[in-house]
Amino acid sequence: MVKVKKIVTTKTASFMRHGDSLKIVVAVKPKWADNELIYHVNSMYGSISKEGILKTKREAVGKNIVVTITAKNNTKVKQNVHIRVLPKINPNRKMVALTFDDGVNANSTNDVLDTLKKNDAVATCFIIGSTLGTKKNKTALLRSYQMGNEIGNHTLSHANLTKLSPSKIRREMASADRNIMRVTGKKPFICRPPYGATSSQERKNVKKPQILWSIDSLDWQHKNPVKTYDNVVNNVHNGSIVLMHDMYMTTAEAVRKIVPMLRKKGYQFVTVPEL
Ligand code: NI
Repeated sequence: MVKVKKIVTTKTASFMRHGDSLKIVVAVKPKWADNELIYHVNSMYGSISKEGILKTKREAVGKNIVVTITAKNNTKVKQNVHIRVLPKINPNRKMVALTFDDGVNANSTNDVLDTLKKNDAVATCFIIGSTLGTKKNKTALLRSYQMGNEIGNHTLSHANLTKLSPSKIRREMASADRNIMRVTGKKPFICRPPYGATSSQERKNVKKPQILWSIDSLDWQHKNPVKTYDNVVNNVHNGSIVLMHDMYMTTAEAVRKIVPMLRKKGYQFVTVPEL
């Protein structure tokens, strides 16, 4: 038997949809000691294979479940992994993708995350890379990512990419990618160009799927929670991509009412790639 010295969970996402299976990825020392590990999860919430593939039960939805990894020969080597279990997507029910731009702004971002969490909801957040200079903003981004939100690139400095040279466009995108990756460990897959401004030169140099929106809450303009709520709730339909900005407390305030109301109307909250 190999003596396992250390188990390190790699910086992968710590969430899953009920109905999917998730492979728990760990780095173990020594490297070849994978089969010296034992995975355990509370049987009320799911089951896990010898290889670390987790399947959940319905009871796990909305919960943060804990997978414990121990070494066969040494009970002192132990690692817990916390996983948020999101509701299964039903393709026959209505869906909406809420999107939040221009974060991170720790106070209002965390307020939005609190609402999403309370309602078992996820969203897509397009992050401005230059906001990630402070510890509290980095912590809020990591929290957002670990909750299952999709993290997209919104450039480094909120630049209008159609007014930049190809090399400057690439720099805006790459720097934001790097700042986000330092926090989440994952390179953003999608982006939203600031102001929704696109051009053929911009598209050629951005090199990511670009996501616009179908409903504009205009929250940044009026900063009025009631108007934000009305613009979203009165216009939403199956498949909507809703634009809001989590940098404003007035938006966070509106989101506290929007999410429960859409839920009541039968909407499932999905990320843009899921949609
Ligand atoms: Ni923006």
